[in-house]
Amino acid sequence: MGTFHVELIKTVDDSYDIEVGYELAGQLIADLKNGLVGKINKFAVVTDSTVEKLYAKAIFDQLIGAGYQAELFAFEAGEKQKTRQTKERIEDAMLEKGFRRDCCILAVGGGVVTDLAGFVAGTFGRGVPFINYATTLLAAADASVGGKTAVDTPLATNLIGLFNQPRKVYLDIATWKTLPRRQIASGLAETIKHACLASAELFAYLDAHLDEIFCIEEEPCQYIANQNCRIKYEVVMKDERESGLREILNLGHTVGRAIETVSDYRLLHGEALSIGLTAEVNLAYRLGYVSKPQRKQVIALLEKAGLPTEIPDYIDREALVKKLYTDKKVKNGQLRFVIQKGIGSVVEFADGVYATPIEEAVAREIILAM
Ligand code: GLY
Repeated sequence: MGTFHVELIKTVDDSYDIEVGYELAGQLIADLKNGLVGKINKFAVVTDSTVEKLYAKAIFDQLIGAGYQAELFAFEAGEKQKTRQTKERIEDAMLEKGFRRDCCILAVGGGVVTDLAGFVAGTFGRGVPFINYATTLLAAADASVGGKTAVDTPLATNLIGLFNQPRKVYLDIATWKTLPRRQIASGLAETIKHACLASAELFAYLDAHLDEIFCIEEEPCQYIANQNCRIKYEVVMKDERESGLREILNLGHTVGRAIETVSDYRLLHGEALSIGLTAEVNLAYRLGYVSKPQRKQVIALLEKAGLPTEIPDYIDREALVKKLYTDKKVKNGQLRFVIQKGIGSVVEFADGVYATPIEEAVAREIILAM
């Protein structure tokens, strides 16, 4: 009889680059040749039915042309597909095609693709490397950066997943040209969120340059891509696993994620977030952290971006209040919210504490008033 101590102290270096630019597939191939994923030469290109035709097939062809083995795995586009079932289908298809541990997953697409593919990579063969090639503003602004990977369940979004960092992220601004206006607006909601929580300068810039961003003009698009990245990775570098500071990236998401699920995904993620940001700036105003003109400015910018700031009639308000409890910030059964402070900052309630308990009655009042 005895006790054995298994000592497994780890030093992990999960550092990676995020490259922002135009038509980056050539750069991706060059990086692979330079050892981005070591000696791996087999790639599972995971994408959706929309991006497959627009970009993923061409990237797949370039991989084959460069002498790599590759297979395309495309699932139907849309948030409703970000499920355990789709993950299982991709995994089974990869196994069927002979993929084992000696492969790398290349996610080509928006947030649904990068969230799902990163999760597949985290569990396939107990973990294989993955690379994100982001083709939407939403993925560039948030989803593809920071290593949160997940699927949705019928109860709520993103409840099942892993922190899993990619080997590299490519943010290809050229791909934004094929985004429908509604998708650009959706990505702008995450950008406005970053401005609200960290940068009054970005907020003012967005207000002045929205039309150019919708026309995908180079300078403003590069500016917002860089600002989104900077704001996000500065937070992630300090608190990768969301033990405190990273919760600030949840601004607007307590109500936003709940309404996205209650709408049964009729609302795009950014549209739901816009309603969430509105609800939460109303809450910040009520708590005295945002002035009346600042509250008005936030709502006006969301509306200028063509985003909704009212809860649609078809949303059952009580179902929405109940759904707030599926939020990952809930502690001891209490709702907790990140609170905006003016424009460009959030409230730090105690050292490293950025979310505060809010009574359900207060949350309900805010929701019923919208
Ligand atoms: N989307 C919020 C985060 O990455 O923490």
